[in-house]
Amino acid sequence: MITSLVTGGAGFVGAHVARELLKLGHKVVVLDDLSGGFEENLPHAAESTFVHGSILDHELLARLFDEHQFDYVYHLAAYAAEGLSHFIRRFNYQNNLVGSVNLINESIKHKIKCFVFTSSIATYGALTPPMREDMTPEPEDPYGVAKYAVELDLKCAHEMFGLNYVIFRPHNVYGEYQNLGDRYRNVVGIFMNQLMQGKPLTIFGDGEQKRAFSYVGDIAPHIANCVNIPESYGEVINIGADQEYTVNELATTVMESMGLEGMIRHVDARNEVQIAWADHSKAHRLFGQGRATTLREGLDQMVDWAKRTGIKKSSKFENIEVLEKLPPVWLED
Ligand SMILES: NC(=O)c1ccc[n+]([C@@H]2O[C@H](COP(=O)([O-])OP(=O)(O)OC[C@H]3O[C@@H](n4cnc5c(N)ncnc54)[C@H](O)[C@@H]3O)[C@@H](O)[C@H]2O)c1
Repeated sequence: MITSLVTGGAGFVGAHVARELLKLGHKVVVLDDLSGGFEENLPHAAESTFVHGSILDHELLARLFDEHQFDYVYHLAAYAAEGLSHFIRRFNYQNNLVGSVNLINESIKHKIKCFVFTSSIATYGALTPPMREDMTPEPEDPYGVAKYAVELDLKCAHEMFGLNYVIFRPHNVYGEYQNLGDRYRNVVGIFMNQLMQGKPLTIFGDGEQKRAFSYVGDIAPHIANCVNIPESYGEVINIGADQEYTVNELATTVMESMGLEGMIRHVDARNEVQIAWADHSKAHRLFGQGRATTLREGLDQMVDWAKRTGIKKSSKFENIEVLEKLPPVWLED
């Protein structure tokens, strides 16, 4: 039986990828430290095992690789609060870069068949959209720098040791199992959590920044199945929706979908890319057109889940390393 390791599988995208792998007949081992994920996100299936632990624990990784002899590694574990990464640089590089390297080491030693990595559109930084995979990345924050460093390390590992990899650069993913209590990231979940509490929706700046919000159900099947598509090996692949929306438009659509009216509270603009959207012709060539869920349809599905899940307490990141320029809204209770 094919056995896959899914790091971050108790998290949002990882929970979907794990389920897609089970559908493909894989045995799945989820490794997650539950820093941003939840046990209730895990698939309930005989072929799915959960290991509570960190990718920073390289001795644990060595034991897991020995025990399970993984065919494939899907590496989704990360702390993905891009905007916060300026203020938690050491943590960001330890968790997202060194943690990834621990997995790459074991993958080389155990000669796995393919390493699937979720990088990010953040690698492009402020390059002029549409972002295309043949552009040279210019990440603008530590999160993007760490993601790009892992991409480069995978290329080195392939050159030196023949490790196969597929790199995805998703963007602005939303959907069921998203952490509604994370105040630093994923505007869709933040808006839903605020609306359920009767709080105003906070928008950085004028809200005219544009993003192509992408429904998780459209991308997780491709991430899972890429190992069966040899043409995707060694490729960097943008993945996500084509249609971009302003954050203001998103706020209106989330309110309509939830059937709740909320006030908008504009707070100071933060240092972020104004327009980020990507060219997906490579993904379409490799995987076909696939599903393209509209924003309203995707939000409706997420809302059903969010209402069942209920309000999540928005917790603060405990160990901020640099306080200078930290958006004040992130310090509020
Ligand atoms: N959601 C998006 O819009 C988006 C966009 C681009 C890239 N990505 C990438 O996709 C991946 C999944 O993102 P997500 O949105 O599902 O985030 P998420 O926070 O919901 O999931 C990440 C999971 O990783 C786990 N984790 C974090 N550090 C860990 C560690 N040291 N050891 C073990 N587990 C650890 C967390 O507990 C969490 O369950 C991440 O690599 C992220 O950078 C996400």
